[in-house]
Amino acid sequence: MAPTPFIIVAIDGGAASGKSSSSLALSARFDLLHVDTGSFYRALTAEMLRRGVSPGDLPALQAALSGLKLSTRLNGRSAEMEIDGRVAGDEIRSREVNDAVSHFAAIPELRAALLAYQRGLAGVARAKGFRGLVMEGRDIGSAIFPSADFRFFLHAEAGERERRRAGQGQQDQIRERDRIDSSRKASPLTCPPGATSINTTHVTLDEVIEQMAAAIAAKLPPA
Ligand code: DC
Repeated sequence: MAPTPFIIVAIDGGAASGKSSSSLALSARFDLLHVDTGSFYRALTAEMLRRGVSPGDLPALQAALSGLKLSTRLNGRSAEMEIDGRVAGDEIRSREVNDAVSHFAAIPELRAALLAYQRGLAGVARAKGFRGLVMEGRDIGSAIFPSADFRFFLHAEAGERERRRAGQGQQDQIRERDRIDSSRKASPLTCPPGATSINTTHVTLDEVIEQMAAAIAAKLPPA
């Protein structure tokens, strides 16, 4: 029998478009390492705020970034990024980080600091015995893994996404974050050519997951 292929699933989309729930579900169903790259940008943002580095001060930002050691810890099926041996806590979902993260994420030097780390997680997934990797973010199918086996782009009307965030008890200016994320020069949020675009506004999460899972199951049977 042919060996089971190692697969990479890229899921991109704006805030509250359904990326996290769907990628966690696919991770469990197909035994894939789950990676939430938004948490990496959030953790770096929290670290820079903690150090008093502003997004406008590039020399200070570069100096701070060059001294950071990034490593990985598994939490169940999810990869957590350690900065200097420590995983950031709830502060990455704070109002301050919500407001600042898109400004830091627009800086090419900060994105470059995460590029090799993110790609290296495919090796972590293999080494830990997963059957593949599901990575969610804004530029996974366009910049991090443009040759991923599956590339999905989720989107939904802004009003519906705001309701979802409010339901999670979070204060988040998602329209403003999406505006900055989509209009930045470095790896903007966009549906890359060839990706499967799914509008999640009027469909249930289960329906979204089943649509993605059906495509994946053709290549990798459920675990
Ligand atoms: O997925 P999230 O809302 O937690 O992401 C937080 C921010 O991080 C988002 O507004 C933009 C940035 N981000 C990014 O620029 N590229 C990624 N691959 C993931 C997130």
